[in-house]
Amino acid sequence: MNRIETNIYGDLSIPYLGCGTWQITKADDMKSVVKEAYSLGYRLFDIAAAYSNEITFRKAIAENNIPRDELLISDKVWNTSRGYEKVREACKASLHKIKTDYLDFYLIHWPASKKLHDNWEEINADTWRGMESLVYDGLVRNIGVCNFKKEHLKALQKTSKIKPVIDQIEFHPGYMQAELYNYCLSESILIEASSPLGNGQILSNSVLKEIAATKNKSTAQICLRWAIQKKVTAIPKTTNTDRLKENADIFDFELSEKEIALIDAIPFCGGLAIDSDEVTQFG
Ligand SMILES: NC(=O)c1ccc[n+]([C@@H]2O[C@H](COP(=O)([O-])OP(=O)(O)OC[C@H]3O[C@@H](n4cnc5c(N)ncnc54)[C@H](OP(=O)(O)O)[C@@H]3O)[C@@H](O)[C@H]2O)c1
Repeated sequence: MNRIETNIYGDLSIPYLGCGTWQITKADDMKSVVKEAYSLGYRLFDIAAAYSNEITFRKAIAENNIPRDELLISDKVWNTSRGYEKVREACKASLHKIKTDYLDFYLIHWPASKKLHDNWEEINADTWRGMESLVYDGLVRNIGVCNFKKEHLKALQKTSKIKPVIDQIEFHPGYMQAELYNYCLSESILIEASSPLGNGQILSNSVLKEIAATKNKSTAQICLRWAIQKKVTAIPKTTNTDRLKENADIFDFELSEKEIALIDAIPFCGGLAIDSDEVTQFG
C-alpha cells in the first residue's frame, strides 16, 4: 500500500486523507482506530467539541505513545460558543481536554443560521475575530470553517484579516456542491470533504460500482480517489480497521477524465445534505 500523499494547496500542505471521528466515542474504538490509522500513515484527525470525543482522543494518543508533533489535530468550535470571547474560552477548554498547547486546525462548526439570526453576518464576523486572535496568541496554527456557503464566505471576507484556509463541507458523488467548490478553488480555500462516502449511503450506486469493477477497487475507494483528484482532502470515518486500510489504498491508480465526468454527473443518491441556512436545530 502507498503512503498517504500530501495535498499542496496554495500555502497549505495537508494530507489528502484524514480520519473522521464523528460517532467514535467509545474509548476502545478510538484507541484501535488511532493506533491502526497512525501505523497506516494517517496523520490528520478530525475531532470536534460537539462529538464529545476530545478526551477519548487524547487518551488514545497517549495510550498509543504517539508524539504530538507527528499529528495534525483538527478541532471545531460548537455553535453555543460563537462570538469573540466565547470562542477563545472554548478553544482553551478544548486544548485543556486534549492536553496540547496548540491545534493544527480550528474550525467554526456551523455558520450562524439566517433562519435563527438576523445578524448572522455580524455573529460570524465576531466569532472569526476570536479565531484570528487564537492564531495571534499561538494557540492555533490554521483557522477555517465548516458548512459555510459562498454567501457566508463572502460576508466573512469583508472583515477578516486572515482568510479561512479550509471550508469543510459535505462533498461526495451525488453532492459535490459545484458552485461552492468552484468558488473555493478560485479563492484558494481548501475543500475538506466531510461525509466523503455520503455517510456510507452511496456505496451501492451503479456508476460507482461499474467504475470500481474496472479498477479492481471498492466503491469507497472510487469516492475517495475522485475527491483527491479534485484537490479535495477527505476525512472518511470508520471504526473497522480493515476499512481504514482500504480507504488509504487509493494512491496507486487514477480515474480518467471520462470517469470523473461520469461521477460528477451522478444525481443525489444519499448523504446528509444539510443546508446550513435552513437548519434550526444546530443554533
Ligand atoms: N463539519 C461537519 O459538520 C461534519 C459533518 C459530517 C461529518 N463530518 C466529519 O466527516 C467525517 C466523515 O463523515 P461521516 O462520518 O458522516 O461519513 P462517511 O465517512 O462518509 O461515511 C462513514 C460511514 O461509512 C462506513 N465506511 C467507512 N469506510 C467504508 C468502506 N471502506 N466501505 C464501506 N463502508 C465504509 C462507516 O461504517 P464503519 O464505521 O462501520 O466502517 C460509516 O457508516 C466525520 O466522521 C466527521 O469527522 C463533519
